[in-house]
Amino acid sequence: MTPRPSFDLLAPVYHLLERVTFGPLLHRCRTAHLDQIAGCRRALVLGDGDGRFLADLLRANRQVRVDSLDISPGMIALARRRTAGIPGAAERARFVAADARTAPLPEAGYDLVVTNFFLDCFPPEDLESLIDRVAAGCLPGVLWLDGDFRLPAAGRPRAVARVILAGMYSFFRLTTRLPTRQLTDPAPFLAARGFTLAGEKTQLRGFLSSQVWVRGNSLAPHRAGG
Ligand SMILES: C[S@@+](CC[C@H](N)C(=O)[O-])C[C@H]1O[C@@H](n2cnc3c(N)ncnc32)[C@H](O)[C@@H]1O
Repeated sequence: MTPRPSFDLLAPVYHLLERVTFGPLLHRCRTAHLDQIAGCRRALVLGDGDGRFLADLLRANRQVRVDSLDISPGMIALARRRTAGIPGAAERARFVAADARTAPLPEAGYDLVVTNFFLDCFPPEDLESLIDRVAAGCLPGVLWLDGDFRLPAAGRPRAVARVILAGMYSFFRLTTRLPTRQLTDPAPFLAARGFTLAGEKTQLRGFLSSQVWVRGNSLAPHRAGG
């Protein structure tokens, strides 16, 4: 297993850095499928960072209870502060500071898993075992939202993406000690655990992609709110 990174140093400026580099695009990617999950009731958000997705989830879905797990106490403090004013957040959101690769899941029976710009932190062997453990702790028809960078299929967009990713991994190596050097596509691991891709929205010619994966037959039960 690769060494633990620490995002604490980066936490206070993480949002600003994102705005300067990608403007609103990353948050558009995180929230692209919020309308698909009105029926979800028990969510596990992994590597949630400073809580911007969590805040939007709690506002969009008034029934959902969320376990937000992140290795960085600094990020968790920001997320806690960001969500404090949301009605019912204190009862509906639980924060767990832990390494997602080794910590037991806070509970079993999740019907929603969210991994935004998180799975890109791991090399293939860590990614596979993480997806394995998380999938095992979910309901059969669980929905998995994954917003992240992807390598476009071919041509110039792919070449440009490679250069940007190399720069980003160097930056994160310096600031967080993240040992990962390149992006691994989680799709084969999700597919191997019975998930199918039910929807995808992309930006920047596929460099940013928000995917909805479903284990089971359809998205319909997750869409139904109330
Ligand atoms: C690149 S940031 C993404 C944050 C947020 N999800 C977003 O959309 O911007 C990666 C996050 O994953 C957390 N993280 C990295 N490795 C982790 C691990 N092994 N277990 C739990 N959290 C981890 C970091 O602390 C950080 O908050």
